[in-house]
Amino acid sequence: MLPRCAVGVCHVLMLVLCVSAAEDFDWTKNHHGSFYYGTFPAGFSWGAGGSAYQTEGAWDKDGKGLSIWDVFSHKKGKIQQNDTGDFSCEGYYKVKDDVSLMKELRLNHYRFSISWPRLLPTGIKSDHVNEKGIQYYDHLINHLLENKITPIVTLYHWDLPQVLQEKYGGWQNISMVNYFNEFANLCFERFGDRVKYWITFNNPWSVAVEGYETGEHAPGLRLRGTGAYRAAHHIIKAHAKVWHTYDTQWRGKQKGLVGIALSGEWGEPVDISNQKDIEAAERYVQFHLGWFATPIFHGDYPQVMKDFIGRKSVQQGLGTSRLPTFSPQEKSYIKGTCDFLGIGHFTTRYITQKNNPSGRSSSNYFSDRDLAELVDPRWPDPGSEWLYAVPWGFRRLLNFVKTQYGNPMIYVTENGVSEKMLCTELCDEWRIQYYKDYINEMLKAIKDGVNVKGYTAWSLLDKFEWDEGFSERFGLYYVDFRNKNKPRYPKASVQFYKRIISSNGFPNQREVENWRRKAVETCSSSNQLLAAARRKSQEHAEMPKVWPVHDEV
Ligand code: NOJ
Repeated sequence: MLPRCAVGVCHVLMLVLCVSAAEDFDWTKNHHGSFYYGTFPAGFSWGAGGSAYQTEGAWDKDGKGLSIWDVFSHKKGKIQQNDTGDFSCEGYYKVKDDVSLMKELRLNHYRFSISWPRLLPTGIKSDHVNEKGIQYYDHLINHLLENKITPIVTLYHWDLPQVLQEKYGGWQNISMVNYFNEFANLCFERFGDRVKYWITFNNPWSVAVEGYETGEHAPGLRLRGTGAYRAAHHIIKAHAKVWHTYDTQWRGKQKGLVGIALSGEWGEPVDISNQKDIEAAERYVQFHLGWFATPIFHGDYPQVMKDFIGRKSVQQGLGTSRLPTFSPQEKSYIKGTCDFLGIGHFTTRYITQKNNPSGRSSSNYFSDRDLAELVDPRWPDPGSEWLYAVPWGFRRLLNFVKTQYGNPMIYVTENGVSEKMLCTELCDEWRIQYYKDYINEMLKAIKDGVNVKGYTAWSLLDKFEWDEGFSERFGLYYVDFRNKNKPRYPKASVQFYKRIISSNGFPNQREVENWRRKAVETCSSSNQLLAAARRKSQEHAEMPKVWPVHDEV
């Protein structure tokens, strides 16, 4: 998520002719508006995703320890409506139900994360391994495989064990590298016979910036100017260590892949004839995606980050840069630790150059970049305040990855759009439009030569959306959070995505238009079902509540 402060800068209408500076493909050939009918390479993997804290619930069940998100969400005023993930979708109890939804969609893969404190309640392996937690993930993995759905498993989707935060300061402390490595090693040992796609970290940008710099996310620290850089430094080292552990100890027998999932929003220069704007837009991407990808692919931070943060640190009278440095040994250890790159992409910004003063009090990650973010008010923004639908940015970002990092194997690990909580409308035509256009831009990128192997719609279910609580719904399936059973209802986008999957792309205009029409027709009956269920639950509001029938874990 992009912080509101950054987006709020200015909502300005800009009429800009968008052509690119990249050399190896011609943007102008495919005008923004043009739709490309065609199919994806054979074997392309279609999926959907979610994460432990956002969907599982069962926050204090079966021996699970507390995570920083359990603690943060219980503090008043941190989350919209003071929502918590205590129950969320009750995914912990609904493995079979949810796998049926995936089958309905004909998914090839499902992306989920393992809750570290569910396996290791204190975060530390030598303290205690919670076998009930292991059993839950065994059950989920086995059930997916029985249904021919490949698990793509994230080891860290933000839920650090609280004990590690309290004792050591979490990702501010280098000791996390070894604790995380032990946790990862346990996962390889217990699940690696069946799991072949591992993601070390999900969106470390958010962990670093929102967890340790702005404090909008757990653990809520506001260490301006240093907190994010330090957290990221340790996360990159932890990622590399886990990759090496897999490489030396497990790859031989398990034959899996280890990658990282980075968020990457695209930055387009406001004025493409202005060199300063072009450089500012490049800086925007380098400070976001490049911050993590450049060390992992090339061994060190982007030169532009070293230059800008270094210069500003000197101007502030600091002896060393606020951006930590890697030793030569660390650089070679980190370089090349990525079997595939996960990309989470949602939106785009226009970027212009803007000098920020570098006084001690004003220095922070955002001001270090010397740029301003702008949006075109004509861009659709149906849900989250930061999320504007700008499909063409996706193709540009994917091409950027190809040229900057040597055309790595890419899995799109997140892409999707939200709507507001109050919207009980299952006929989500705007989501259909979003998926259709974004997936089409990904297809164009593959035709450009980008090595994308799979796509993960974000998300399978409506779920806990971090500091926004339940107020923003990203799901293909609607979840009625007011009902204790947390029933799921298909939105129209389920039907549409299912067609894309079965056709492995977009066969022709007539068919794709038919899919849209049919999807919207079927959802009106789901709408009625949902409305009836809501009326009924209101009528029975006084009656004793019945709990869901749970799968055996
Ligand atoms: C990225 C995060 O990884 C995910 O958990 C979240 O739901 C999406 N952004 C949407 O904000």
